Amino acid sequence: MTRIPLMAGNWKMNLDHLEAITVVQRLHWALQDAQFDYSQVEVAVLPPFTALRSVQTVTDADSMAIVYGAQDVSTHPAGAYTGEIAAEMLAKLGCRYVVVGHSERRQYHGETDQEVGEKARAALGGGMTPIICVGEALAIRKAGEHVAYTLAQIDGVYAELGPDLAAGTVVAYEPVWAIGTGEVATPADAQEVCGAIRQRLASLYGRDAAEGIRILYGGSVKSSNVASIMAEPDVDGGLVGGASLDPAEFAKICRFAEHIA
Ligand code: 13P
Repeated sequence: MTRIPLMAGNWKMNLDHLEAITVVQRLHWALQDAQFDYSQVEVAVLPPFTALRSVQTVTDADSMAIVYGAQDVSTHPAGAYTGEIAAEMLAKLGCRYVVVGHSERRQYHGETDQEVGEKARAALGGGMTPIICVGEALAIRKAGEHVAYTLAQIDGVYAELGPDLAAGTVVAYEPVWAIGTGEVATPADAQEVCGAIRQRLASLYGRDAAEGIRILYGGSVKSSNVASIMAEPDVDGGLVGGASLDPAEFAKICRFAEHIA
């Protein structure tokens, strides 16, 4: 089965709505100049909530092929949850993706696998694709327990979903020690865990379903290292943080196929 790679730029808490418009336009122009073929790589940006409406407007107005999504979603559909954003609201803004369970949310907001699974279910209920983040901290890797730890996160999150919903998900393996540190996992490190995740999905949902689920790598992805990581068989894209704030650099990352060594 062919999985179309996904390059998703997680802007985190950066760029106001005006800056967001500029970055999306520059990304679009950079890819247009390079005659980028969006049928070969899906390109997504994941702005803060406050910039989604602007990104929707600019991508619609210029008929851009760039898609977008949110960085989080409430587990609740509506109601007295001050500060939360419901899946339906994101769907109305044209979001295709929702990041759930990013390590920064797990770390700073105490999100559990169960909650992450509920958020993934909420996103799916709104017709969007959750990008389910998993990955180990440095101490766990040093102890050699990174595969078991990450698979336990997969088990915990997917326990909330079940077979019908699993096929509509994307997984992002982001080792915490590689996020924002400049320290990138080697292609073999990324493949080890992404391959193990696919095997686990196959044992949960069958080989066909697992072959259709895209598994991204995230953690200090740049144009200089993306091609070798993307060459691994179970890596189907990137969840790019810092480098996605620079449209020229992110465009180069999206063009990874042209610079495979
Ligand atoms: P960096 O690319 O800045 O390391 O961030 C990775 C990440 O957390 C994307 O979600």
